[in-house]
Amino acid sequence: MAAMRFTATLCVLLHIVVICNAGVTSSYVRKSEPSIDMPVGSFPPPTGNNAPEQVHITQGDHVGRGVIISWVTPLLKHPNVVTYWEAEGKHKRRAHSTITSYRYYNYSSGYIHHATIRNLKYDTRYFYELGTHHVTRRFSFTTPPKVGPDVPYTFGVMGDLGQTYDSNQTLEHYVSNPKGQAVLFVGDLSYADNYPFHDNVKWDTWGRFVEKSTANQPWIWTAGNHELDFAPEIEEYEPFKPYLHRYHVPYKASQSTSPLWYSIKRASTYIIVLSSYSAYGKYTPQYEWLSQEFPKVNRSETPWLIVLLHSPWYNSNNYHFMEGESMRVMFESWFVENKVDLVFSGHVHSYERSDRVSNVKYNITDGLSAPVKDPSAPVYITIGDGGNIEGLANSFTQPQPSYSAYREASFGHAILEIKNRTHAYYTWHRNQDSEPVAADSTWFYNRFWYPMDETSSSTNMV
Ligand SMILES: *[C@@H]1O[C@H](CO)[C@@H](O)[C@H](O)[C@H]1NC(C)=O
Ligand SMILES: *[C@@H]1O[C@H](CO)[C@@H](O)[C@H](O)[C@H]1NC(C)=O
Ligand SMILES: *[C@@H]1O[C@H](CO)[C@@H](O)[C@H](O)[C@H]1NC(C)=O
Ligand SMILES: *[C@@H]1O[C@H](CO)[C@@H](O)[C@H](O)[C@H]1NC(C)=O
Ligand SMILES: *[C@@H]1O[C@H](CO)[C@@H](O)[C@H](O)[C@H]1NC(C)=O
Ligand SMILES: [Fe+2]
Repeated sequence: MAAMRFTATLCVLLHIVVICNAGVTSSYVRKSEPSIDMPVGSFPPPTGNNAPEQVHITQGDHVGRGVIISWVTPLLKHPNVVTYWEAEGKHKRRAHSTITSYRYYNYSSGYIHHATIRNLKYDTRYFYELGTHHVTRRFSFTTPPKVGPDVPYTFGVMGDLGQTYDSNQTLEHYVSNPKGQAVLFVGDLSYADNYPFHDNVKWDTWGRFVEKSTANQPWIWTAGNHELDFAPEIEEYEPFKPYLHRYHVPYKASQSTSPLWYSIKRASTYIIVLSSYSAYGKYTPQYEWLSQEFPKVNRSETPWLIVLLHSPWYNSNNYHFMEGESMRVMFESWFVENKVDLVFSGHVHSYERSDRVSNVKYNITDGLSAPVKDPSAPVYITIGDGGNIEGLANSFTQPQPSYSAYREASFGHAILEIKNRTHAYYTWHRNQDSEPVAADSTWFYNRFWYPMDETSSSTNMV
């Protein structure tokens, strides 16, 4: 491993890189160690009686002028107020939260607050304060630039994070990179359901663990299977109960009828979030919503069309192999017709990037069922490698299928830098390297404005 790290360092120093056209299975082999959760006490509640904790923000409207601010007060409902002001201004405004709480088996949540603040200025830094004079906690965020075709914007991408020592490294790497302005999170947050009785205390510790990022920049949430918390054996019959109480999203702003699927515009992107674990067959609410969603995307306004969904459609790992297949069958032709640029998924605890392929010819009599290169198809990225308690998915199918451009069983995160309407630079960072090292990087060319072949632009640090 030391030699491997030395080679990687040398590559950086000498700019020796491997240009990859054929599919690559990384030769980087991570030591297989058990993934261990950080002790519950690693992220204690903030000091002070009833101090607001587990602070997180997400986009609060369709265009980026709203923010949903969420937090938990453990003992008392009040104060249920957030005070916020422009960093350059003095005028303070206040917004009240709606308060919810829930029981899960024998767990009772604290008071969960959600306050939506609206009509903010674009591209502006704001401060906000929670709590009262005894325990006031102050945070800040920056609103995105006005929606438009050539607005640069940089996203972090993470999934399947959990709360192990590996998760801590993933988050630390992301936070230490000043580039990321918002996170696209592809599902599976706390992994509380891996504990007896789905110990919901793990939802609280997770909220405190990620706060150093989630309080200061929006995380765009996607629901994964670990958000289901469906447990009839302990009489918990309501799917997504903890998740839906704790994580609010602006679904009504995109005419969705469920927080599990929705869309937002942010800078030069149009982001569609889907639910792998809600009905998507023909005539279902999610199907009907998505059918009406694609025509609303105006690529002159938001050139970049990105989809987030938990269970990947193109996955050459033996873990969760073909679990995304039924959703692919339903929706892939729409993705190709509408020239989706990128699809990010999680679920599989490793990393994989596909070529632009589609597999939409098949009907039950023609026998055509192999993926083919397709310049109108998205690139599919599996990034369920946040580092949760279940460990790495380190068993790939052999040989590497032709659709798979790069795959590696390591934990990490990605950065997507949208430069303008034609170009975006993408880097995936494995945890074992220092944060500035990109193990897999490539230019993405926009499918609407510049549908050129990108395959020669990728670089791997193996
Ligand atoms: C919930 O029940 C489990 C199993 O009986 C027990 O170990 C745990 O301490 C209980 N938690 C609370 C908050 O009562
Ligand atoms: C998590 O990472 C931070 C930053 O590197 C470190 O200070 C902290 O000790 C880590 N926490 C645990 C429980 O290892
Ligand atoms: C698409 O967006 C462009 C740029 O904002 C605008 O000029 C045009 O009218 C929009 N088209 C439609 C159909 O709304
Ligand atoms: C299925 O594919 C066959 C062979 O290409 C074609 O003849 C037939 O029309 C297709 N059926 C439908 C319903 O599209
Ligand atoms: C878009 O960004 C790319 C990469 O930075 C650059 O090469 C290209 O010239 C830019 N296009 C325009 C029209 O500015
Ligand atoms: Fe999952």
